[in-house]
Amino acid sequence: MTGDTLGTMRRSHHCQELTATAIGQEVVLMGWVQRRRDHGGVIFVDLRDREGLTQVVFNPAISPEVHDKAQALRNEFVIAVRGKVDHRPEGMTNPQLFTGEIEILVTELKILNAAQTPPFMIEDQVDASETIRLKHRHLDLRRAALQKNLMLRHKATASIRSFLNANGFLDIETPMLTRSTPEGARDYLVPSRVNPGTFFALPQSPQIFKQLLMIAGFDRYYQIVKCFRDEDLRADRQPEFTQVDMEMSFVGEEDVMAVSEGLITALFKDTLDEELQPPFERLDYTEAIQRFGLDKPDMRFGLELKELSDIVAQSDFKVFANVVKNGGIVKALNAKGCSTFSRKEIDDLTEYVAVYRAKGMAWIKVKEDAWQSPIAKFFSEAEKAALTERLDMAPGDIVFFVADQPKVVNESLGHLRNHLGQILGLIDPDEFRFVWVTHFPMMEYDENEKRYEALHHPFTAPLDDDLANLAVKPEKVRSRAYDLVLNGTEIGGGSIRIHQPEVQRAVFKALGLSEAEYTEKFGFLLTALESGAPPHGGIAFGLDRILSMLCGSESIRDVIAFPKTQRAACLLTNAPSEAGAAQLDELHLRIRKLNAS
Ligand code: AMO
Ligand code: AMP
Repeated sequence: MTGDTLGTMRRSHHCQELTATAIGQEVVLMGWVQRRRDHGGVIFVDLRDREGLTQVVFNPAISPEVHDKAQALRNEFVIAVRGKVDHRPEGMTNPQLFTGEIEILVTELKILNAAQTPPFMIEDQVDASETIRLKHRHLDLRRAALQKNLMLRHKATASIRSFLNANGFLDIETPMLTRSTPEGARDYLVPSRVNPGTFFALPQSPQIFKQLLMIAGFDRYYQIVKCFRDEDLRADRQPEFTQVDMEMSFVGEEDVMAVSEGLITALFKDTLDEELQPPFERLDYTEAIQRFGLDKPDMRFGLELKELSDIVAQSDFKVFANVVKNGGIVKALNAKGCSTFSRKEIDDLTEYVAVYRAKGMAWIKVKEDAWQSPIAKFFSEAEKAALTERLDMAPGDIVFFVADQPKVVNESLGHLRNHLGQILGLIDPDEFRFVWVTHFPMMEYDENEKRYEALHHPFTAPLDDDLANLAVKPEKVRSRAYDLVLNGTEIGGGSIRIHQPEVQRAVFKALGLSEAEYTEKFGFLLTALESGAPPHGGIAFGLDRILSMLCGSESIRDVIAFPKTQRAACLLTNAPSEAGAAQLDELHLRIRKLNAS
């Protein structure tokens, strides 16, 4: 056929397919030049496609013209080759490579496209900065590691869909142009051209819509869906990310957890061939904070925190005594066998906890004959004995103390625990340890805003036993929310929802919304709840986070095809970008002059 770049060539195999069983076959391969080597007149090319590498050989003794043409090849050229599969010569086989026994003796070469020299080598051990790699993401994505990650992502979503489809869940899409769905972050707004001065919000989650689908009678819903949150970014947060979002009717906590455990177990089997053993452990929120300091504890190691407020309340160490007197607490953890920590190491750990607002960190080294510590002298023999028992202190140990308001103590020691777990090698990197954290408080008082904030979202049901507290002591009300935590990362969160309109009104009220405010924002939900809402609940998993754990990658950027930077920008397309005057006009927008300073 004329006008067809490929001519008569059509691919017969991919680059991870041919082994010794194919010797003698004529094949056609297509792909990219990974590397070209010139060996005394014979040219070797590692040809790459998404599956792997195959060595192709241009030998002047086989075809001088083809060999001549191959001299033009450079890295990342796109080529098609026809040739015969042959054994590699003695001593040239590569057992590391699936195709390492064979090579293709090329009789026809088509250069399908040339390529500029890439700004970095397309190899796993790439040394280019992340900025350069994100700017050339299409090249970075050619690297085997990222290809593998995205292929695993495909396998994961296929597994998830297959599990949910088999369990009666319907895949239903919900709008992207919508009203604000509060999940504790800022909204991304989209101006409406047709309705001057008004905005859509991109969904922080499909939360309200999935509840409406239950009210509409769909019984079991799921969606693998993009969510948008304008929040401060970290390695495990992106402004747009993907949830595996689910909702079920006529269920309680245990039902949602059981389906979730089935889903996660199937996912780990299908992707890593890893056999998990559900049911997963359960931990009450209060106990999680007490023992680990954080609501997403890494359960792979001990190093638990112990509260000591009762022991030190009357001590001569005024810092501790005063903190307790003022409603704070004192907690500590025992780093067993680490009394050899140097002054510098202790200072570094103190700096580490300062990030979490700890004002200091006292320590005690337990030596054979005595305690070595700046604070030992303040404790009576009885207090020392009580500390020794509570903290299980033995010679060779070092104990770290933080005294402050509970939030500061738990956060700083909780993170210190994770940090010590890492640096002391207490964590088995191959273990997957799941835990459900349950019974979160419904709301928390926000000192800045001077009002209560929903910890999960305002549609989460309170525990029936705690309903009476809603109007009087909202901070005491526990919710029917649950988070799934894997190795210290929150990979999913959900709850049983409020299905009674009067309870939903009471919760809005406790959150400081007036009737006019909640009617304006959520009137449509209240109306729906009044129309026959079944009891319902659900959960959403962070697909990107789960994948980064499945792939063992540090950042969720490594499992997203086109991620954004820490500054929420796309370096590849240069988004976000300014809009032209005409477009702004059409959208009824005027940009205020930005202050130069
Ligand atoms: P939640 O806000 O807990 O719940 O979100 C569910 C899960 O989504 C992941 N996640 C993120 N991943 C990457 N980047 C982000 N910025 C980000 N934010 C959250 C986390 C989290 O556990 N509507 C509720 C779910 C429900 O109640 O059913 C919700 O969105 O892994
Ligand atoms: P100072 O009396 O201030 O020299 O403190 C003695 C020891 O107590 C030092 O090791 C401090 O780091 C530690 N320290 C000070 N404030 C706190 C606190 N809020 N919690 C725990 N340790 C503290």
